Amino acid sequence: MSDVEESGRSSSEKPLLAVLRGEARPVPPLWLMRQAGRFLPEYRELRARSGSFLEFCYAPAAAAEATLQPIRRFGFDAAILFSDILVVPDALGQRVEFESGHGPKLDPLEQEDSPLAKLSEEIDLEKLAPVFETIERIKGGLPCETAFIGFCGAPWTVASYMIAGHGTPDQAPARVFAYRRPEVFEALIARLVEASVAYLIRQIDAGVEVVQIFDSWAGVLPPTQFERWVYEPLREMVARVKKARPQALVIAFPRGAGAHLKHCVEGLGADGIGLDTSADPAGAVRDAQNRVALQGNLDPLALIAGGAALDAAVDGVLEAFAPRAHIFNLGHGILPETPISHVERMLARVRG
Ligand code: CP3
Repeated sequence: MSDVEESGRSSSEKPLLAVLRGEARPVPPLWLMRQAGRFLPEYRELRARSGSFLEFCYAPAAAAEATLQPIRRFGFDAAILFSDILVVPDALGQRVEFESGHGPKLDPLEQEDSPLAKLSEEIDLEKLAPVFETIERIKGGLPCETAFIGFCGAPWTVASYMIAGHGTPDQAPARVFAYRRPEVFEALIARLVEASVAYLIRQIDAGVEVVQIFDSWAGVLPPTQFERWVYEPLREMVARVKKARPQALVIAFPRGAGAHLKHCVEGLGADGIGLDTSADPAGAVRDAQNRVALQGNLDPLALIAGGAALDAAVDGVLEAFAPRAHIFNLGHGILPETPISHVERMLARVRG
């Protein structure tokens, strides 16, 4: 985003795309991370009829329906593809399962002598064909003002699951592995960069207009490790996706970047940077100047609390980012226990 408009001029473009191109909108476009999911009764009903979680991700009709549910109910400004970040290890040949109530389970790479030999050299995009079919189905069914977001996990976050074989509170297995075997870990990150870039380009070709790269576990690393495993791979991915598909817009979400946020805002080359709940909007606005759009960062727990506390938190976010290019979102995914009425209240307050 080089050419930033500060005038609030509105174009005929979809609001979310206009903001990612640098236009400030008086009412910021709004979507919610993990909006296609368990806080919706209609999602839980669809999920109950859909077999394993991965089967659900690879069933175009069901995945398209899950993507569209929050759009129908709330009229958000963007739809995010219903899928998961762990389809990439699945398409690299690692066994991935989701046990209900326990989260993801993978065959851990940390026990392997040659972890890379356990994976295919290239991502199997044929295996992911149902995802691209899902995108094609959704494309036609979206209201004309609704933007369409695809996504993948960032190499560091995906690698943390591949190494440990499951979610961990502090990603210790991947961190220890990266210290012990830096060349192997670097090769794994490089393979994930290749695979993820190819996957995002195919999503764009199938019809998404924006891609978001989720680095959910970026915040645990010390500075040199952050630079090597988070910043550099993200920068390379953004550059390669934008070079291959210059029309596509990219949002990076380095969750927990903290002191590294300024560097990310200045150097990643993304059109938008997602701010997590703990990020200070005023500092981010200062750092971003007119370089990138900012997305975020209402506390998902304020959305659970509701009432006057929610109103104050929503107003705080709106005021902190106005009048710049801003996409209203949460600071992390919406939680399953969030009341629908609180989402409606938030939406009404943002849209005035
Ligand atoms: O945003 C959306 O609504 C689109 C769909 C989406 C899902 N996962 C669906 C999902 C997206 C963007 C993701 C991203 C994702 N997946 C991340 C990064 C974002 C974040 O929240 O930090 C991560 C780390 C994962 C890995 C993952 N998938 C875990 C740890 C789990 C289990 C715990 C949990 O959060 O539910 C999943 C399962 C998952 N992915 C569900 C959904 C709707 C729940 C599974 C179910 O319905 O049974």
